Amino acid sequence: MVVLQLSKSRLRPPEPGDERSIAYYANNRKVWRNLRDSFPHPYTLADADAWVAGSSGRETPEGRFVIEVEGQAVGVLGLRAGEDVFRRSVEIGYWLGEELWGRGIMTEAVQAATAYAFRAFDAHRLYAGVFGWNAGSARVLEKAGYDIEGRLLGAIFKDGEFTDEVIYGIVRRG
Ligand SMILES: CC(C)(COP(=O)(O)OP(=O)(O)OC[C@H]1O[C@@H](n2cnc3c(N)ncnc32)[C@H](O)[C@@H]1OP(=O)(O)O)[C@@H](O)C(=O)NCCC(=O)NCCS
Repeated sequence: MVVLQLSKSRLRPPEPGDERSIAYYANNRKVWRNLRDSFPHPYTLADADAWVAGSSGRETPEGRFVIEVEGQAVGVLGLRAGEDVFRRSVEIGYWLGEELWGRGIMTEAVQAATAYAFRAFDAHRLYAGVFGWNAGSARVLEKAGYDIEGRLLGAIFKDGEFTDEVIYGIVRRG
């Protein structure tokens, strides 16, 4: 089992028992508004049950992590390698419960997960697609060493509005 022990949190695979906490923190419009519509809203306990159940026995390397703070699953971080010629590019995605925002938790988690993905996935590039209005996530990525690769104008339709997708990336050095 892969565990990244950090100063502000612990990243570990999801496990039975996480469902209630995940459902509580995920069921938030401010979280949903910055994620794809495949992330449910409202987010129910049944959604969390299905997510945790679907997280076991997945592919290696481990690419699905719960962000644990004080023994509670308060967020999620995922890594997904592309296919074919994109197989050495890994997408990173994440969310954190609103009560925990602004403490540097995600900056530290993204930094650690980036180093892990370069190693465990043998990634050459990591990237994230950030909604145009999501200044907090943009800042997290900048602090973790990512640069803006491009801006896809009006690419996203979310919550009844169009916004840009800003692609942030980092390429392995050496
Ligand atoms: C984005 C998110 C992951 C940030 O997590 P976090 O743990 O609060 O982030 P951190 O505390 O590590 O850092 C946040 C940084 O963004 C800054 N920030 C936050 N909101 C901001 C805003 N509206 N405008 C400008 N900067 C902002 C903070 O000041 C901080 O930067 P600083 O340390 O230089 O002051 C969290 O808010 C979240 O889960 N949001 C909903 C889901 C989401 O957006 N997921 C990412 C999809 S790409």
